[in-house]
Amino acid sequence: MSKLWSPIVAALKPYVPGEQPRMANLVKLNTNESPYGPSEKALEAIRAAASTDLRLYPDPVALGLREAIATRHAVSVGEVFVGNGSDEVLAHTFAALLKHDRPLLFPDISYSFYTTYAGLFGIEAVEVPLDAAFRIDIADYRRPSGAVILPNPNAPTGIGLPLAEIERLVADHPDQPVVIDEAYIDFGGESAIALVPKYDNLLVVQTFSKSRALAGLRVGFAIGQRPLIEALERVKDSFNSYPLGRAAQAGATAAIEDEAWFESTRGKIISSRAKLASELEKRGFEVLPSQANFVFARHPGHAGQTLAAKLRERAVIVRHFAKPRIADFLRITIGTDAECAKLVAALDEIL
Ligand SMILES: Cc1ncc(COP(=O)(O)O)c(C=O)c1O
Repeated sequence: MSKLWSPIVAALKPYVPGEQPRMANLVKLNTNESPYGPSEKALEAIRAAASTDLRLYPDPVALGLREAIATRHAVSVGEVFVGNGSDEVLAHTFAALLKHDRPLLFPDISYSFYTTYAGLFGIEAVEVPLDAAFRIDIADYRRPSGAVILPNPNAPTGIGLPLAEIERLVADHPDQPVVIDEAYIDFGGESAIALVPKYDNLLVVQTFSKSRALAGLRVGFAIGQRPLIEALERVKDSFNSYPLGRAAQAGATAAIEDEAWFESTRGKIISSRAKLASELEKRGFEVLPSQANFVFARHPGHAGQTLAAKLRERAVIVRHFAKPRIADFLRITIGTDAECAKLVAALDEIL
């Protein structure tokens, strides 16, 4: 706290990102990164972008990248917005679309950045409890509200909603923006982008950080009808006109065009997830059904915090949230099969 701060700063509750420790031989399963390197074509494009052209500003509207995303998702380029990671896209979404007289709704157990953004932008939020099975019940969202945001699949549970349920949620709120954060959709869910032509209140947000293995490049995007995208553009151009550098635009464009890399990598992660869930269940864990690149699991005989600490002593890092209802769960990113085997071996020592 300092007298030099703007008054809002003292009241902020900043998001706490998963740590990026510098330890040798670490099995890093705490921030839902891909265990595989990105597409070689993306790396080549990034290397090519590292040229004297870096003296020039990048394209402020990232037209080439937006065209590639539009082609991949069968929408028009004007329906695509890109930003510096989906976190920035979400921040602009909160500012542009989610502040209304009535409250914003999101799940009580969800991506904790939503609470942070609501605080930053002075948005009244109501947290809607997950049901007893840690599922989102869209009937619980039928209440007076200004807007809705939820991740599908949800994080940190990994549980996905079928597209028909998402459509019901969007149709239930015809006069409110409904934002579906699809950071993990490519690991088994069905994207709501297909509903965009039908619903003018739907915005879908995705990222290159997970299924494209480019968390370090910082690229995310949103797809929605023109009026929603225009709102995001207005906020972006009131904040930073050049959020994506030349390397990010080039790398992400090549990545989204590399369908073969995408299919093979997400297939490997989905199959490792099934193997890891079964190994955990064999050892007595309850594992929530995941459609994401992580599993959320708890052991009836061991506190989550203790397990996380003992794993860390063995150089295996997972994510633990000291929050009501989920304090005994570990969120474990799906690594390579070799990394998952190291996790399981460490658990065998601990249990
Ligand atoms: C649900 C959800 N949304 C958005 C993000 C942000 O991802 P990025 O800013 O890397 O695109 C994350 C990151 O973990 C996430 O879990």
